[in-house]
Amino acid sequence: RRVTVLMGGFSAEREVSLNSGAAAIAALEQAGYTVTGYDVTRDTDALLRVLRDSRPDVVFNALHGRYGEDGRIQGLLDILGLPYTHSGALASAMAMDKPTAKAAFAAAGLPVADHVVVGCDAFADPAVEPMARPYVVKPLNEGSSVDVYVIQEGSNVLERLRADWPFGRRAMVERFIPGRELTVAVMGEGESAKPMAVTEITTARGFYDYDAKYVAGGSRHVLPADLPPDVTEACLDMAARAHRSLGCRGVSRADLRYDGETLYVLEVNTQPGMTATSLVPEQAALIGISFPDLCVWMVEAATC
Ligand code: DAL
Ligand code: MG
Repeated sequence: RRVTVLMGGFSAEREVSLNSGAAAIAALEQAGYTVTGYDVTRDTDALLRVLRDSRPDVVFNALHGRYGEDGRIQGLLDILGLPYTHSGALASAMAMDKPTAKAAFAAAGLPVADHVVVGCDAFADPAVEPMARPYVVKPLNEGSSVDVYVIQEGSNVLERLRADWPFGRRAMVERFIPGRELTVAVMGEGESAKPMAVTEITTARGFYDYDAKYVAGGSRHVLPADLPPDVTEACLDMAARAHRSLGCRGVSRADLRYDGETLYVLEVNTQPGMTATSLVPEQAALIGISFPDLCVWMVEAATC
């Protein structure tokens, strides 16, 4: 079977995606597929031509972030009639737009952090802030904690945001949930979607930002997370429900926070990092699914 791996892309997560793509290519080649990697750039004519002319049996989507994770590439593949891994266009678009995803989680009865959507003048008046600190200011639709700012008591980050607003027209201001950072991979679709395991992420710097995620030693993964059995069960259940509430398929990863009392769902990543040391492959390995087997399952579960 012929598989084309889409990787790179032109979002802020390009580098992460090149790593995910390289890992997927190696795993799928090892599993016996005929694999072609394709570095997605802004040259969409070239992309269209390659996909139309080669018509792979399956497209392995290793893209992250805008255009690759937000339903747009998925819509293109739908139109071309090419089966692809991970979630479809609607689930991807819903998951990527954080306020939309949170509305779906809340409708499914899952606790979410309070938020408001603000414009670029939100902090113009230093005497007025959208909510009491601590809170987080983040893009509505990015991954890997790109441009995520935690505003603590005494923080002067807002001055920087006033001088150089990085978010475009709108941003999300979300209550900061203190406590533990947990993440759960889910595989499958609908009622048969199964959570894998719970990882706790600890960082020396106190916040799981881009560097903590991708610089060696920036964070530690504790797998399985050291939690009471009932809390572990609640995490697994919450991640599966979050995945279903958006209509996800293939593999996703739900990011959760636990303040010692309430478990909150922050977001579902429909295109989670896929290097062999990424969170999802680590959890798969824990439940007995090797990285190549995981990639094979994803390809065989691909649809459009
Ligand atoms: N956005 C990165 C790739 C992740 O969620 O794993
Ligand atoms: Mg994310």
